[in-house]
Amino acid sequence: MDTVVVTGATSGIGLAITRLLSASGYRIIGIGSNETSCLKAHDLLHDEQVTFLAADLLQKREVMRIADVIETRLAHPDNRLRALINNAGAFRSWYSTTEEGYEHQFALNHLAGFMLTWKLLPHLLRARGRVIMTSSYAHLRARMHWNDIMLKRLYNPLSAYRQSKLCNLLFAQALNDRFHAQGLYAYAVDPGLVRTDIGSKKTGFLVTLIWLIHKRRGIDPSIPAHDYRYLCSTEPAPEGLYFHQGEFRQFNRLVTDSNARRLFSLSEQLCDISYDDYQKG
Ligand SMILES: NC(=O)c1ccc[n+]([C@@H]2O[C@H](COP(=O)([O-])OP(=O)(O)OC[C@H]3O[C@@H](n4cnc5c(N)ncnc54)[C@H](OP(=O)(O)O)[C@@H]3O)[C@@H](O)[C@H]2O)c1
Repeated sequence: MDTVVVTGATSGIGLAITRLLSASGYRIIGIGSNETSCLKAHDLLHDEQVTFLAADLLQKREVMRIADVIETRLAHPDNRLRALINNAGAFRSWYSTTEEGYEHQFALNHLAGFMLTWKLLPHLLRARGRVIMTSSYAHLRARMHWNDIMLKRLYNPLSAYRQSKLCNLLFAQALNDRFHAQGLYAYAVDPGLVRTDIGSKKTGFLVTLIWLIHKRRGIDPSIPAHDYRYLCSTEPAPEGLYFHQGEFRQFNRLVTDSNARRLFSLSEQLCDISYDDYQKG
């Protein structure tokens, strides 16, 4: 059976993707940050096609652990990993770091997906599967702070968020560059402004207030879910990188092959992993 792994599946956009893809016949492994949110999502969906697993993807050891759990569930030869949807994400008002000392937005919004993709890559290659990143229109105003990638010296939460969403495109571009020939397709989706609670989770009073006002203009999470289904299930795989409301769109000019390679190699160093293990000559 075709399986799709969705991170950040317990609320907002990820929950809507999970619901729609399950209704479309996929078996879903959904990741949430903790047991409580997983149980809540499970009770909400009541769907035996969906399994929720808890892992704090901010921590490298948790990404590795949950990838091992997913691999045991994919062990049966009939289970194909159709797609990995790296959707988990967060906004932070202040500079905060992981156990490894990595800034939270960079670590969760980019590095977690980078590591999970690496761990699951053999399954994705075997199935000629797809990797879909949840990016954002916010990336359009981003730049890469190469000399201070965690923005430690002068922290600006919005710059950190925008940069992490630009990283999603650069990572997808680099994956295509490396693995297209082996049948893998990677995309970045802009879901638009969506009515979720992202801006009011672990954020300060001002950010919470601004988000509560801003999100009133947002769309229901079920709307962008259709873009993910399209990218997961269309055959042959659509050609393009950055997708929004049924179409491939223009993206930031900083999405170049050289920037994609630079981020890829920096991320390998930070995560202490090498994608070269999977590359054919
Ligand atoms: N809402 C928008 O307008 C908008 C626009 C553009 C892009 N996006 C992107 O869309 C994605 C989903 O966001 P959303 O708006 O749907 O917000 P959301 O409802 O807050 O969903 C975020 C998801 O990520 C999970 N998550 C957060 N921290 C985690 C951690 N440390 N480990 C594992 N999972 C974690 C959450 O799990 P728990 O429920 O367990 O906390 C939740 O399932 C994000 O990447 C965001 O940047 C959102």
